[in-house]
Amino acid sequence: TAEPLVLGIETSCDETGVGIVRGRTLLANTIASSMDEHARYGGVVPEVAARAHLESMRPTIEQAVAEAGIELQDLDAIAVTCGPGLAGALMVGVAAAKALAVSLDKPLYAVNHLVGHVGADLLQGEGLRPAVGGVGELELPTVALLVSGGHTSLLLVRDLVSDVEMLGETIDDAAGEAFDKVARLLGLPYPGGPQIDRVAAEGDPKAIRFPRGLTHAKDLERHRYDFSFSGLKTSVARWVEKKRDEGGEVPIADVAASFREAVVDVLLTKALAACADLGVPRLLLGGGVVANARLREVATERARAAGIELRVPPLSLCTDNGAMIASIGAQLVAAGHAPSGLAFGADSTLP
Ligand code: KG4
Ligand code: ZN
Repeated sequence: TAEPLVLGIETSCDETGVGIVRGRTLLANTIASSMDEHARYGGVVPEVAARAHLESMRPTIEQAVAEAGIELQDLDAIAVTCGPGLAGALMVGVAAAKALAVSLDKPLYAVNHLVGHVGADLLQGEGLRPAVGGVGELELPTVALLVSGGHTSLLLVRDLVSDVEMLGETIDDAAGEAFDKVARLLGLPYPGGPQIDRVAAEGDPKAIRFPRGLTHAKDLERHRYDFSFSGLKTSVARWVEKKRDEGGEVPIADVAASFREAVVDVLLTKALAACADLGVPRLLLGGGVVANARLREVATERARAAGIELRVPPLSLCTDNGAMIASIGAQLVAAGHAPSGLAFGADSTLP
């Protein structure tokens, strides 16, 4: 079928996501998050996330099916995130997907979470309009920058199903993780990304020149498309500490704005360098950090200046969700790929 009806399950982190698509049409995107339970620990606790997935899985599937107005029997396939992510969390989704596939006698497709993020851009539906640019078809090849609490990856996507190349990734903290850690040291609550964004709006991004990781000539040889944020975090910590030691007031808005500027600058410098080096005039953004107001602003400006088409799916599809996994599942079915069978397992370190 050209427009297969696919249910996708995503449980790589704290979101239990179940999405249903018909080809590229989004029918349902239901999400249960356990973020409230993690907030008091200042980060996602893997065991808590896995337990929450277990409790949310059935109701989330039922809600998605009701929202889509379909019968489970009508599905052409089930798709599930098999990695990368938290091992225990992934296992719950994989087990649920296998149970559904066996009981309904439907083919099952294992999907790489990062490829899923790119698949988010394919979806169309009522009220779904790309937040930035790219109203038409997703053209390939494209460079994709995926930035969330769990990953910071730069991909070259030549084919969604068979040809995705990892150009680079973070060698230490993910970008969202850096936002969360810096927020914590500024005394802002978790998750810190939205808090930094809010506070930074009042600050001067040029107040403090924080380092841009892996941008020096000697680093570029080996890490042209890789990222590093732990040095930046340490630099912010030292700056704040020194200010406090001197008995001065910490200008939180300026620190937040300057930190945010450093992250945004390095993310976009590297992503646009990849577009230029590879002669690919398209850049796709995905992941929760795409909610960042400054990232969207600078991405829009710099992409326009460089003659690059920028695509940012709506935020509800940028953060982890089941619809993006269903979207890739539908592509796999439509392209005639063989199902994954039942022998695969969750792979927390899937490349
Ligand atoms: O994609 P996501 O919802 O979940 C995963 O990590 O997979 O991303 C969550 C991350 C968190 O680290 C959060 O602090 C960050 O995205 N984030 C932001 C903003 N909103 C969320 N980072 C910067 N600016 C924001 N406005
Ligand atoms: Zn993700």
